[in-house]
Amino acid sequence: MKKVRVSLICALAASVLATACCNKEGEAAAATGDSTQAEIAALDMKPVAERTNMGAKIFVTPQPALMIGTYDENGNPDVMMAAWGGQCDNNQVCFRLSPHRTTTNLRATKEFTLSYATQRDVAESDYFGTVSANDVPDKIAQTGFTVTKSQNINAPIIDQYPLTMECRVVEIIEREGDGCFVIGEVVNTIADPSILTDGRIDLDKLQPIVFDASMPSYRSVGGVVGGAWDAGKKFIK
Ligand SMILES: Cc1cc2nc3c(=O)[nH]c(=O)nc-3n(C[C@H](O)[C@H](O)[C@H](O)COP(=O)(O)O)c2cc1C
Repeated sequence: MKKVRVSLICALAASVLATACCNKEGEAAAATGDSTQAEIAALDMKPVAERTNMGAKIFVTPQPALMIGTYDENGNPDVMMAAWGGQCDNNQVCFRLSPHRTTTNLRATKEFTLSYATQRDVAESDYFGTVSANDVPDKIAQTGFTVTKSQNINAPIIDQYPLTMECRVVEIIEREGDGCFVIGEVVNTIADPSILTDGRIDLDKLQPIVFDASMPSYRSVGGVVGGAWDAGKKFIK
């Protein structure tokens, strides 16, 4: 269980904003012509000893707004939101599930779809994270959303989500009386052409939302600020 926790944290930590050191005068900026130090100085950050101590508060951001689609034993579709999850290996996802209808379905079918909530479907996606199929069996239909059965696995693809990963459960790690951790393998991904650019998933077109646990809300994903494995090259001597 500890290993899974570490994996989850590692996966999510990859997307955590980097913190920066304080330079009170910003003089280095003038000397080097580098705007970074000037921007940090403009924040007017306190020395570490004077910062607010928030105790053992976990804050990992962004948390994805993942939509887990499953069928129950009678073939009825369900979908729920999961923000405590992410990528934990090259082709594996993992998330933590409390006891929900989805959790029961997953234990039975061992297959599920994973889609992204987007700016276009905030209300529907939030509803799927608020209402249980245990109480509202046709919760998907309540929003006007529809499903198509996956050709690869026994799980529903929600038609209105443009990007869906089709997954098989690799492992369920039980947490006594408190749900479980689920590790799944992505066996196929289907994308609507409208969210692709040159065959690649384009976040500007997908417009995924992320969950802000601090100010409970959904936020959009911003634009590109640098090239990965590229922006830091200027420090390589
Ligand atoms: C923003 C948000 C994030 C959520 N993340 C999780 C999560 O990571 N794990 C979980 O077990 N439930 C999570 N939930 C709760 C479920 O989505 C919710 O209980 C849902 O109604 C379960 O539906 P079901 O019973 O039809 O499966 C989240 C809900 C919201 C609104």
